[in-house]
Amino acid sequence: MRDVLISPSILSADFSRLGEEIAAIDHAGADMIHIDVMDGHFVPNLTFGAPVIEKLRKCTDKPFDVHLMIAPVDPFISAFAKAGANILTVHPEAGPHLHRTLQAIRAAGMKPGVALNPGTPASILELVLDETDLILVMSVNPGFGGQAFIDSQLRKVEQLRSMIDATGRDIILEIDGGLNAETAPKAISAGVNAIVAGSAVFKGGPNAYAENIRSLRPHVKV
Ligand code: DX5
Ligand code: ZN
Repeated sequence: MRDVLISPSILSADFSRLGEEIAAIDHAGADMIHIDVMDGHFVPNLTFGAPVIEKLRKCTDKPFDVHLMIAPVDPFISAFAKAGANILTVHPEAGPHLHRTLQAIRAAGMKPGVALNPGTPASILELVLDETDLILVMSVNPGFGGQAFIDSQLRKVEQLRSMIDATGRDIILEIDGGLNAETAPKAISAGVNAIVAGSAVFKGGPNAYAENIRSLRPHVKV
């Protein structure tokens, strides 16, 4: 069974104590920290931008897996690099020049990621796979935590797994939205190797985080 990275989404954290929340999920076993940036225009919700991320950088050494739900993206790439983002993931619909955007992210020293909305097909990636280090399959429509997992996205995960394996490159296949102890195993069987989860990790408060994260990992067969 492949190793699965768990990337808790801080969208479900207590925003009045973000630094402590990040330290807590780090100690509870998170592999990366998923940070949702929303602009109230590309998606119908607002969060925060690079200045907040820069302040949070000192709270953990774990990679910052930054999911941009903003348009345009290009004017902000260098600000996210300076803020300490390690992976910068964009939606193809956010601008007319996806290939150029991915190249600019790499040139700024980050790993480029592409996020696919539930209505966006895997084929959109065919000509940019060489520029992509992470693919984020949205299993909800982006904008809010706590939504129900859309099962049809599992077929897309299977298609993407074949496309990635054919490249021979180590592209991370991550899934985001409605992941919990019930849906995570289905996504892992379909081929993901990274799971984003917000509400399923932060439920129950800090004492529950370690167990919540463990419940998303593939169970060891005995
Ligand atoms: C949704 C965000 C997700 C969100 C997931 O637009 O991209 O990262 O926080 O939340 P859950 O895990 O609660 O569905
Ligand atoms: Zn996200």
